[in-house]
Amino acid sequence: MDIVFAASECVPWAKTGGLADVVSALPKALARLGHKVSVYLPYYRQVAKLVPDAAVVVPSLTIPFPSYNRFVRILDGGLIDGVQHYFVDSPEMFDRESLYATPSGDYGDNAERFGLFSRAVIETTKILGVPDVFHVHDWQSAMLAVLLRSTYFFDPVFRSVPAVLTIHNAGYQGWFPPRTIETLLLPWDMFTFEKLEQNDTLNFLKGGIVYADALTTVSRGYAQEIQTAEFGNGLEGVLGRRSADLVGILNGVDYDEWDPAHDPNIAAHFTAENLSGKQKCREDLLHAFGMTGVSDETAVIGVVSRFATQKGFDFIVQIMDRLVEEDMVLLMLGNGEEYYERLLTEVAARYPQKVAVRVKYDNVMAHKIEAGADMFLMPSRYEPCGLNQIYSLKYGTVPIVRATGGLEDTIDEQAFGGGNGFKFWGYDSGALLDAIRRSLGTFQNKDEWTRMMQHGMAQDFSWTKPAEEYVRVYERAIQNRS
Ligand code: ADP
Ligand code: GLC
Repeated sequence: MDIVFAASECVPWAKTGGLADVVSALPKALARLGHKVSVYLPYYRQVAKLVPDAAVVVPSLTIPFPSYNRFVRILDGGLIDGVQHYFVDSPEMFDRESLYATPSGDYGDNAERFGLFSRAVIETTKILGVPDVFHVHDWQSAMLAVLLRSTYFFDPVFRSVPAVLTIHNAGYQGWFPPRTIETLLLPWDMFTFEKLEQNDTLNFLKGGIVYADALTTVSRGYAQEIQTAEFGNGLEGVLGRRSADLVGILNGVDYDEWDPAHDPNIAAHFTAENLSGKQKCREDLLHAFGMTGVSDETAVIGVVSRFATQKGFDFIVQIMDRLVEEDMVLLMLGNGEEYYERLLTEVAARYPQKVAVRVKYDNVMAHKIEAGADMFLMPSRYEPCGLNQIYSLKYGTVPIVRATGGLEDTIDEQAFGGGNGFKFWGYDSGALLDAIRRSLGTFQNKDEWTRMMQHGMAQDFSWTKPAEEYVRVYERAIQNRS
């Protein structure tokens, strides 16, 4: 099968969160299953820095806007692990400081940027080869599904080509002013509640949900949750109407990147059978955070996260005064919303012996935390899948999570034969504190703790099975169009 991915993030070039991990790993797994996969990514400044002299594949595409055209080049990102990568080069749109936003807010022309990206991918496939299926991700490439079934409706080469949309996070939908419909050269009769309109805005993700041939999201739990008012963020109605076409497929892990047996970013390697290297990783991590004199009996709790309301930092802040009474240190790595960056920095300054925070994006440090911490804390308000808790399992770092979405699906405290982590329910910081205290209690019992670590390390979340599930979704979508 010939599959084209269009996405706004992909490891190793451009990443703000787990989307980038998935868009790198899933194509690789599909290629391993024998499929031909191409991935399209905007040629952001960050990408250009890493691949400054990418060869030109298509020297000029014309992307029309109401009173002007933009001219876009397609660059060769190379064949990596059997997956062909292409970059959409439009310096006016993508040669910027960040992917989506400045500290003061989203770029004002994001609709034009990602509308252009989606159209450029469609146009390129007309030159390089029309695929059997398009796979688009989140609001940033959802417009591809909309264009395919509207602007390109009469194009004979696309009539039998479906678009599959994966919703990684329904909290971000791409809301734009109504006149965006004109910017995208779409007719005003698509600006209706049945199609692209919501609360008098043009909603990219909603458009994708309406027009895509099939929908997936990144865990079974979240597939159910987004059909409710609590998690649907206003899209529960349209998602409910398409529930027959919506499946939850739990993300996998790229164990080439995330495995303590061969991770090049960590101080020592270890496995479930030989855990001795983990102690060295713990010392290295404490050192990296400038924590001295921490006893072996003291638990090291790690956090790696985007700093966003989604991730439940307000729960952590609420319990901090009581948490610091416990025998633990808390090490946090993250960046994002300025509010949380400031708040968490203040908390760390209040308890320098117990809490440390590093406000930055640092992939090596993320690996060091996975390897060196004893527990991994993820009290998310909602979590479509969550990758860090699954990475943690492989590193023998026991997750403490809120029971939601993919966290609920992957972490089981009461499992027959032994749990793999600790879980709390409700929007309740007291329940979080209880879960942390339960974990600290178990940590004191070394045998039980080691069993729990080894149990998580033995679990297999590799991409092969999820990739096969995606193939079934593609096949069904192709069948439905023929
Ligand atoms: P989300 O996509 O909602 O941010 P996930 O758990 O799916 O959450 O994925 C987060 C990914 O981003 C993981 O690979 C994690 O290691 C990485 N990450 C998040 N914040 C940082 C950071 N500050 N530095 C390095 N990596 C980070
Ligand atoms: C989103 C979600 C996260 C998920 C990731 C990859 O950013 O917030 O839960 O793991 O996408 O699918």
